[in-house]
Amino acid sequence: MNSPIYITNHIQFAIVGDTFHTPIKGEFEFIRDYLILVNLDGDIDATFTPEHPSYQALLTALAEQGKLQTLRQGQYLMPGLVDLHCHAPQWPQAGKGLDLPLYDWLQNYTFPLENRYQDVEFAQAIYQDVTKTLLANGTTSAVYFASIHRESTELLAQTCLDLGQRAFVGKINMDNVEQCPDFYRENDIAQAFAETEAFVSNVFALQGNDSGLVSPVITPRFVPSCTPEMLNKLGSLVQKYDLHMQTHCSESDWARDYALQHYGKSDVQIYADAGLLNNKSVLAHSIFLTEHDVELIKQFNAGIAHCPLSNMFFANGAMQTRELLDSGVQIGLGSDIAGAPSPSIFRAAFDAVAHSRVREEGVDVTVASGERGTANARISFIEAFWMATAGGAQVLDAKTGVLSAKHHFDALVLEASPLIGNLRIWPEFDTPRDILEKMVCLAQKENIQQVWVQGKQVI
Ligand code: GUN
Ligand code: FE
Repeated sequence: MNSPIYITNHIQFAIVGDTFHTPIKGEFEFIRDYLILVNLDGDIDATFTPEHPSYQALLTALAEQGKLQTLRQGQYLMPGLVDLHCHAPQWPQAGKGLDLPLYDWLQNYTFPLENRYQDVEFAQAIYQDVTKTLLANGTTSAVYFASIHRESTELLAQTCLDLGQRAFVGKINMDNVEQCPDFYRENDIAQAFAETEAFVSNVFALQGNDSGLVSPVITPRFVPSCTPEMLNKLGSLVQKYDLHMQTHCSESDWARDYALQHYGKSDVQIYADAGLLNNKSVLAHSIFLTEHDVELIKQFNAGIAHCPLSNMFFANGAMQTRELLDSGVQIGLGSDIAGAPSPSIFRAAFDAVAHSRVREEGVDVTVASGERGTANARISFIEAFWMATAGGAQVLDAKTGVLSAKHHFDALVLEASPLIGNLRIWPEFDTPRDILEKMVCLAQKENIQQVWVQGKQVI
């Protein structure tokens, strides 16, 4: 324990209140009147529970120094949410065209819209709005697909930096003549590669990005969009600079079959062979994985972005979330805007639970109940919250998602009150577990009162 003099010098501010987090998968911690000290870098310097001998003295000293925020009854502190898969340029399309299968949805809606981002002015307002919307929904770390355009993708990175969101931003690469329309395709592979390499160094060099709040991500759209040469060149970039990488992986029957027919191997094997996988890779969806695929993902310590709502529209099957969690593969959640319409990772966590329950029960009422579903496929609300926070952070290899010392202070205050939204808590008969489960089920943007990223309040 340090003296109040130490606090004056190194502590930016402190917050005390009832706190939830899930450092261990499948378990939760509820800490009453948890005291968190945030240093000048925006990282958590130390934490104290009321049992600590110096707790009261610290509270008094911090309050005297004007550095203490005390949460009131009905307010809860928790880690900020992590969205591992969001298509920022598709935000205007949220809720549109979801009656179409993936291939038609991409060709008819997505590619024409994304192509408009060659116009930086068009991009500006939308990128501002989507970043603000995600922050307001409690998403402190977001992994974005942008479009094929370097300039507007750099604008997205700058926007996240300006608005204070921890972001992982990718300029899409797609060059396969057979799958990409003439109007939205990279025709010169050397030029596309040079643009991508320039994008990477420009994002690292953004003014104000010294602490690395925004990171560049290598982003081959998915196997059908890219030539083997493009995948290999991008893999060499991942290796050269040890970069994050994101892509879609075995998302639908069609996508899985495309890989098998054109390469004779799975998406995961294709990405591994191209040098694209490392401990910071995000494989969105990952529905039709073989045992070998799972082993490969684990070997590289890569991760999966589970996008339950979008999977209901495009995946043609349910992800084996239970089995993947048990296998120890790193896994977090993605909104997949606009393959799904909701920007809320609370919603994604709820959908992950609901999806697993439908899978467990089965759906065909003409089949006997015992044979209708997949036994023991459910995941818990606590596991879903873990994926939304600590699990997502692990996928990114980022020191966030948990409110413990040496982690970034990325956090939110959620308030339950009869005056706000739909979340209601009755302290006399809701246990801490009940409260956390209710939050996953019912929390809305309106309940999120304050949001910090790297110790800076952004909402
Ligand atoms: N597969 C390739 N591109 C996309 C996309 O934009 N959204 C989704 N959900 N899947 C894809
Ligand atoms: Fe996607």
